[in-house]
Amino acid sequence: MTDAQTITQPHAASKSMDDIVALSKRRGFIYPASEIYGGINGFWDFGPLGALLKNNVRDAWWRAMVLCPPIGPDGHPLQIVGLDSAIIQNPRTWEASGHVGGFNDPMMDDKETKARYRADHIWVYFPKQPASVRFGIAVEAGSFEEAEQRFDKLYQTAKWQKIVRKAAKVFNFNPDDHYWLGMKRPGNITEEEARNAFGPAGEYPGTWEARCGTELSKEDLAITRSPDADEFGTLTEPRMFNLMFETYIGAIRDEDAKAYLRPETAQGIFLNYKNVLDTTRVKVPFGIAQVGKAFRNEVTPRNFIFRSREFEQMEMEWFCPPDQSQKWYEFWKDQRMKWWRSLGVAPGNLRFREHDQEELAHYSNACVDVEYQYPFTAPGFGELEGIAHRGDFDLTQHMQHSGAKLEYFDQQRNQRYLPHVIEPASGLTRGVLVLLCEAFTPDPSRPSKVFMKFHPAMAPVKAGIFPLVNKDGMPEIGEKLYLELRKKYAVEYDAKQSIGKRYARMDEAGAPYCFTIDGDTLKDNTVTVRHRDTCQQQRINIDRVTAFLTENIDRGD
Ligand code: GAP
Repeated sequence: MTDAQTITQPHAASKSMDDIVALSKRRGFIYPASEIYGGINGFWDFGPLGALLKNNVRDAWWRAMVLCPPIGPDGHPLQIVGLDSAIIQNPRTWEASGHVGGFNDPMMDDKETKARYRADHIWVYFPKQPASVRFGIAVEAGSFEEAEQRFDKLYQTAKWQKIVRKAAKVFNFNPDDHYWLGMKRPGNITEEEARNAFGPAGEYPGTWEARCGTELSKEDLAITRSPDADEFGTLTEPRMFNLMFETYIGAIRDEDAKAYLRPETAQGIFLNYKNVLDTTRVKVPFGIAQVGKAFRNEVTPRNFIFRSREFEQMEMEWFCPPDQSQKWYEFWKDQRMKWWRSLGVAPGNLRFREHDQEELAHYSNACVDVEYQYPFTAPGFGELEGIAHRGDFDLTQHMQHSGAKLEYFDQQRNQRYLPHVIEPASGLTRGVLVLLCEAFTPDPSRPSKVFMKFHPAMAPVKAGIFPLVNKDGMPEIGEKLYLELRKKYAVEYDAKQSIGKRYARMDEAGAPYCFTIDGDTLKDNTVTVRHRDTCQQQRINIDRVTAFLTENIDRGD
């Protein structure tokens, strides 16, 4: 697939996440898990279309990594092999990897509402002046930019007035005098509007200072109102919470039997690095790629499948000589951005974000995220994939903890060393979310009012095959065509309802083409091809349909 096929989409901010979630349910992309029992927070099931879409992303990744890896900087194809390791490994794996000691999020509990928040998602706003009316108001958001937007929205509401009145009582100030002393006026509100909205007030403009939950002192917390609480001072100080799901192996449930569901697929690769070297012909530099489930007991699963407790990852560990690691880091950064674009994600909806030194995970020397502009982050962006320079952290740790010798003897250099690792780690589940958001295209002129503009190669269903009426020999021709096409493509045969309704159904499924068998087919052996994106129709000979799909779906593969 090529960049030339990139599809122009409406801006992320104009798409409603509620509509995307509703369509996903209605059309069988994604259902809430255990729905008949009231659901289970942080878990999702992939329906018939969702499973097909996910497999398409997974297969495209596997092809780009294992079957057909990129050409390296020296003009030769890279060597990358695949792996499928166990979800439960020896628990010492996770001690060595740092997950037992370090895979923690700082959490804050709200004593009033019992809600639990990631401390780095809590932002508290304090009026800078006057000191006598100091109180803090907390909002929950993944990033500072998002927090600011939420805060701006909040203080345009009646809820804000209630908060200020409450704060005035608790902290003993006159709300009429101080309503908006220190208030930050949002850009789109005039001073007059602000006065009208917030009542008589002191002098404008004041400012707010925002601080992240992880930086708050006990004193700060005592005067802060948690996002959904009524009282002030109900947030606890941040406490560490390990994200790994625990289980027990065998009949006895004691500490010795404790094991973990893997929180990342990466460690299975490090555990098998020596096996792969010993049993295949790969030589450093080379990669090992794996797709599979990962589990994290996320404190605040949210935003549909963006952060869930069970999800899938697509990770590749690239083992290279230490002195070449920077070159490979840059190489993979570039490759990964190209790959996401090749799935039809508009370049303007993707960007890189380099991690600050303080933000780096315990194993990482450098990390850059590929970010996407999700409807719930717009105009900001959120993580889709991380490309990390892991140095020799993991191999060193596993060598020390297991006693196994994991050094590599480089015959060309006549040198023994521990390879350094560059890791493009992406979310398969999150990739599906990106493709759903990207494809979602409102179109009031259509009966369905919306269509899913998937890149043809990613579309879960490639074509609908419809006899115009369910008689006159048309169903027989349609079925024959269906039996032929399904050998190679995911296609659907449908003879029910009006043709308009059938097109609408395919629009919501995102099928790029529909082939209709009608009266003319019986006369001249042609069918109508209906194009999803333009609703335009053309006629082609029925014998050309397979070739038509091959040309239009596999282009550039
Ligand atoms: N081995 C490195 C690693 O696991 P990560 O940034 O924690 O790095 C990689 O995870 C990718 O996995 C993320 O960029 C994201 O796409 C996906 N991911 C992580 N946690 C997730 C969650 N709770 N739900 C869905 N996807 C998640």
